[in-house]
Amino acid sequence: MIKNDLFLRALKGEIVHRPPVWMMRQAGRYLPEFMKIKGKYDFFTRCRTPELASEITVQPIRRFGMDAAILFSDILVIPQAMNVEVEMKPDFGPYLPNPIRDQKAVDNVIIPDVYEDLGYVMEAIKATKEKLNDEVPLIGFAGSPWTILCYMVQGQGSKNFDKAKGFCFSNPIAAHQLLQKITDTTVAYLKAKITAGVDVVQIFDSWGGMLSPSDYQEYSWKYIQQIIDALKDKVPVIAFGKGCWFALHEMSKSGAAALGVDWTCSARNARYLSGGNITLQGNFDPSRLLSPPLEIKKRVHQMINEFGKDKYIVNLGHGILPNIPVDNAKAFIDAVKEYKV
Ligand code: CP3
Repeated sequence: MIKNDLFLRALKGEIVHRPPVWMMRQAGRYLPEFMKIKGKYDFFTRCRTPELASEITVQPIRRFGMDAAILFSDILVIPQAMNVEVEMKPDFGPYLPNPIRDQKAVDNVIIPDVYEDLGYVMEAIKATKEKLNDEVPLIGFAGSPWTILCYMVQGQGSKNFDKAKGFCFSNPIAAHQLLQKITDTTVAYLKAKITAGVDVVQIFDSWGGMLSPSDYQEYSWKYIQQIIDALKDKVPVIAFGKGCWFALHEMSKSGAAALGVDWTCSARNARYLSGGNITLQGNFDPSRLLSPPLEIKKRVHQMINEFGKDKYIVNLGHGILPNIPVDNAKAFIDAVKEYKV
């Protein structure tokens, strides 16, 4: 039994005295204790060493006491396991030296044995569960198949993922084969994570908002729905699509326990579009954490009032930025804990 089950209760839609809170990308970005580890070990070493990954995961919980932990890892461990090389270049981000650009490259992508190639993630989960000692639930995650395709084809981050979109629209058959391979791998991967001990799963569709509403259905949502169908009876699934407010109606009927919203969608609109009954998560502008702590607290209370305290999980609208002062992150979490109706 998890001692602080606020997050799990909000996911079930139960009445709570205050909403739970966590922050996307809370593990490993801005904390001085993380910077120390980062100075010593490169990115994938941190991901692959259970002792390091579990330590980075619990650091923000120890410091701020969020209501959920998210495993330190990355969405790009999936392409690596599928035989697509991924490097993490300091001050640049992900770099894939051999991006996928044709049918032959799609044929060469493998569906791995997740226990063999991603076993280190399962070990990190077990180590983290021990450290958490059932204090708070642990979130496991994966990128959406579309977001993973974006990196596999583009080869790096991008403002518009033009090469990824170009590949899909000029070679839809190969694109759908690739998306299906990523989906099958992701389902096996998340099932293994659940067996290893994660309590909740979140799908990050960071680049879903790059697509038009109809292309979103065809290239992204269809595959996220497959993942939800495969997992929803095992653990609650949270679907977060950045810039995907237009799909909230469809998403609300998917079997997901909660939907993430970014800061460009008002609480009122998000509730309206999602039908008013599903738990929503979000949507503080990550840059707003650069406001002074008192201003942050005022705005967090306002945000809770707008979403309502029930069927709601306080979070940012996207990942925390690396330049956020620790005191400001603390003000965000404390504001939720201090919230009174
Ligand atoms: O909450 C957490 O921080 C848990 C760990 C986590 C990381 N990546 C660690 C990481 C999570 C949940 C992610 C998800 C992720 N990774 C997403 C989806 C969420 C989002 O932000 O949209 C995406 C698109 C990626 C791909 C990725 N990984 C990028 C674009 C970068 C470089 C820029 C950046 O975000 O820092 C990474 C590297 C990465 N992943 C770092 C960390 C802590 C920084 C590199 C380092 O520490 O050396």
